[in-house]
Amino acid sequence: MKQEIVEGSLLETAHALIDAVVHEGDVVVDATVGNGHDTLFLANCVGVGGRVIGFDLQQDAIDSASRHMSESGIGSGVYDLHLLGHELMAAHLPMGVAAVMFNLGYLPGGDKGVITQVSTTLQALDSALHHLRGGGVLSVMCYPGHLGGDAEAQAVAGWFDRVAQSVDSATCYQRRGARETTPFLLVAQKS
Ligand SMILES: C[S@@+](CC[C@H](N)C(=O)[O-])C[C@H]1O[C@@H](n2cnc3c(N)ncnc32)[C@H](O)[C@@H]1O
Repeated sequence: MKQEIVEGSLLETAHALIDAVVHEGDVVVDATVGNGHDTLFLANCVGVGGRVIGFDLQQDAIDSASRHMSESGIGSGVYDLHLLGHELMAAHLPMGVAAVMFNLGYLPGGDKGVITQVSTTLQALDSALHHLRGGGVLSVMCYPGHLGGDAEAQAVAGWFDRVAQSVDSATCYQRRGARETTPFLLVAQKS
C-alpha cells in the first residue's frame, strides 16, 4: 500500500478523492451514517438524479442524519437510510456503485459504547469492494485512539494491504507527525 502525507484535513482529502470520481446520477454508499455529514456531502455529489444508500445501527443516528438532510434542502428521494449494520449492505445495493465511505468508531455526541467492530467492518469492506464499479472509490477513516479502535484500524489496514494487488491503487493518508493513536485515512480505487 502507498503512503502519503496530508497537510490539511483527512476528511477533506476523502471528500476530494470521492468528488473526483462521482458524477450526478450515481449511486453511492455511506456505510456509517452517524450525524449525516458525509451523507450530505455524498448527496450533493450525486445530485437530484442520484442516490445515497446509508447504514447505521442507531436510530438516533438515522434520525439526526435525516433531520440534517431535510434542513439542508435535500429531497427524500435522494437518500435511503437503513437502520441496519453495514455488514448486511449487500441486500440493499445495486452493482456498480461509484463510492463507499466508512467513518469508523462511535457517534460523536452519542453512545460511545456503540462502536464499529473488526469482524463486521471487514465483512462490510468485502461487500463494498464487490459492489463498486471500476474506477469507483472506497474510503475508510480509521481511529486507532479509542479502546478497540486500535485493533480495528490495524485489521482494516491489513485488509487494504491484502487487496492492494487487485485494485488500481490503495493508499494510506496520514497527517505529518502522526503517532500510533492519530487517525488515518485508507482509500482504494477499484480497477
Ligand atoms: C464516526 S460515526 C460516523 C460519522 C458520520 N459519517 C458523520 O458524518 O456524522 C460512526 C457510526 O458508525 C455506526 N456504526 C457502528 N457499527 C455499525 C455497523 N455495524 N453498521 C453501520 N453503522 C455502524 C455508529 O452507530 C456511528 O453512528
